[in-house]
Amino acid sequence: MKICSIGAGYVGGPTMVVIAEQCPEIEVEVTDVNEERIAAWNSEKLPVFEPGLDEIVKKVRGKNLTFSTDIDEAIRTSDIIFLAVNTPTKTYGDGAGKASDLTYIESAVRRIAEVATGDKIIVEKSTLPVRTAEKIRRILATNRHGCNFEILSNPEFMAEGTAVEDLRHPDRILIGGDETESGQKAVQTLVDVYAHWVPREKILTQNVWSSELSKLASNAFLAQKISSINALSVLCEHSGADVDEIARSVGADSRIGPKFLKSSVGFGGSCFKKDVLNLIYLCEYAGLTEVARYWQQVIDMNEYQKHRFARFIREKLFGSLRNKKIAIFGFAFKKDTNDTRETPAITVCQDLLEEQAKLAIYDPKVPEETVRRDLRPYPADLITITQTPYEAAEEAHAIVILTEWDEFIALDYEKIFKNMQQPAFVFDGRNLLDLNRLRTIGFEAYGIGKPRA
Ligand code: UDX
Ligand code: ADP
Repeated sequence: MKICSIGAGYVGGPTMVVIAEQCPEIEVEVTDVNEERIAAWNSEKLPVFEPGLDEIVKKVRGKNLTFSTDIDEAIRTSDIIFLAVNTPTKTYGDGAGKASDLTYIESAVRRIAEVATGDKIIVEKSTLPVRTAEKIRRILATNRHGCNFEILSNPEFMAEGTAVEDLRHPDRILIGGDETESGQKAVQTLVDVYAHWVPREKILTQNVWSSELSKLASNAFLAQKISSINALSVLCEHSGADVDEIARSVGADSRIGPKFLKSSVGFGGSCFKKDVLNLIYLCEYAGLTEVARYWQQVIDMNEYQKHRFARFIREKLFGSLRNKKIAIFGFAFKKDTNDTRETPAITVCQDLLEEQAKLAIYDPKVPEETVRRDLRPYPADLITITQTPYEAAEEAHAIVILTEWDEFIALDYEKIFKNMQQPAFVFDGRNLLDLNRLRTIGFEAYGIGKPRA
């Protein structure tokens, strides 16, 4: 058997790598139109940073795992094709800012219709709006070789930063397929692939639409949990309660659970906002205004949280940021990833730059060109990228923590404090540090939803 993916990004790359690792007798090929990306997958420096990924790639690359730009050949020779192309939120036309842009999916599927000469199982891996399988089916019908295509929905639930662990030990694998005999046969084929390493009872099968909607629903629930705790963080700051204590007591109720109750400067990442907006778009399309409004509030709360944090920094720094140096610790949307899509750091930095602050930004994994691209068109001379957090904080008025990288916990804050402008501030957007300890050193320290000293 041969499996290929179209798309070698954060989803396609790690997913295929783990399938190759777990299924040594299956040939796995990862393809992409982006030559640079494929070259990087074939090099020592992978384009995606994920803990543990390097080791597996070293082990299986060149054996049953290959990376290539020859998409047509991969389509022709594969039994199962995973669609793992990007599906960003549309920036133009109808549904702009809400619906998913399906241009990349469509062009990948057209390619399959054009070049396939045998039967294939097509797997939707990218997050897609409900009923995309129907559109894919219609495009595939233009194939001239009479091939049979079965379309499966197999949404990805891995989170960045823990992709390898999530792929190796998933809570569940979800596979949606047609209720026809050939549909069920295709479902079984994919079940057998995952059954190499996932216990059968964790592999859920259902119809395509349920599977597609489940992905949006899961991410909407998770995003909602964060927006709920973030909404409470605002109340905490006005009442003296501590949001981490609220999360601990609320999360101890097994019906609610302790995860995704960490209050923060806001959620980021390529999925949450996109998927919730997708859900909203679907609801509006169906005329379900109240339902759309309910989910819209999850997004609105997240936007409010990011802007509120930047506003608070300005107020504490005596109402003016002009020409003040501010050290930004962390730019990725969470720790252990080099991905900055929808990172709250973009919004917070933009708000600070609007006030003409000078930012010195340090992130252990995000490359300088990515930060600069994300903060265009603000003047380059307002932004410095540093190699260490110490350099970023030198002569700064404040440190702003935007990503919860472990290395920020153990820094020498005494040393940092001495080299900063006084009074020196810490604004911890991730509630990572011990504020009381910082206050003992002399810092004015603030967290999200934390009692003010
Ligand atoms: C998410 C889903 O978790 C995953 O199942 C899906 O397949 C893709 O989208 P991801 O975006 O990679 O994964 O990361 P996730 O760990 O969910 O974090 C998303 C954002 O929420 C990050 O910015 C994170 O910092 C923030 N977050 C998470 C919080 O602010 N508080 C929390 O308690 C948890
Ligand atoms: P995700 O997080 O969904 O994996 P990425 O942007 O990281 O998103 O990766 C998507 C990948 O899909 C990119 O590397 C992009 O070049 C690739 N891609 C987009 N369209 C096509 C296509 N038609 N054929 C092959 N690869 C594609």
